[in-house]
Amino acid sequence: MNEPRPWQREADRLGNVDPSDPTGWFETLWASATDGQVTTPWDHDNPHPTLAAWAPDDRLGSAVVVGCGLGADAEHLSRLGYRTTAFDVSASAVAAARARHPGSSVTYAVGDLLDLPHEWRGGFDLVVEIYTVQAVNRSVRSELTAGVRSLVAPGGTLLVIQAVADEPDEDGPPWPLTRSEIEAFGTEGLESVSIDELAVSGPRGRSRTWRAEFRRPS
Ligand SMILES: C[S@@+](CC[C@H](N)C(=O)[O-])C[C@H]1O[C@@H](n2cnc3c(N)ncnc32)[C@H](O)[C@@H]1O
Repeated sequence: MNEPRPWQREADRLGNVDPSDPTGWFETLWASATDGQVTTPWDHDNPHPTLAAWAPDDRLGSAVVVGCGLGADAEHLSRLGYRTTAFDVSASAVAAARARHPGSSVTYAVGDLLDLPHEWRGGFDLVVEIYTVQAVNRSVRSELTAGVRSLVAPGGTLLVIQAVADEPDEDGPPWPLTRSEIEAFGTEGLESVSIDELAVSGPRGRSRTWRAEFRRPS
């Protein structure tokens, strides 16, 4: 077995410290990353390859990136022509994203999927969720999934990219998604367009990844 990297050890420790606050540890981790104590695998300048390969329809409009980290996916959507908002629960991540992209057209904001501002609900033609839900303990999975769904405007699209689990595994972070967990995005007013399991190459080798698309009828 590979030796865990420093960020993984830190994420493992922080992610399991306080089960009553399943997302609070992200700020601690991002603050450590910002002052150079740990690096994270989320420090990348290119969009996720699956998002980069994904072709939007012609309508563009508004987009939101959930759990945006350092903003590479949001900047990609902005370059495509979307009016893009990107949010993260970690104020340090949002500050680092703003600093990394001076002059950006993206609106970066601190925001919590578990406590979304009312005006964001149903507010976006495209919602992109990459690796946020899997990064948080299963204890709040259905609430996070509902939060993602709630952002999609009538007629809008939701694109979800997550690691694949065959069985629910409590040994995270991360906590990859089973088929029924990915299918849950396509409920409560959203319809499934496609759910594909891909083999994606990344800096840490090949991994099994869900690429799932959903739509809210107009
Ligand atoms: C594994 S990282 C992925 C970052 C980015 N999406 C990427 O793919 O590079 C998960 C991100 O979700 C953020 N996050 C965790 N819980 C959140 C919540 N409840 N609301 C918003 N963002 C959250 C974390 O701060 C972190 O930046």
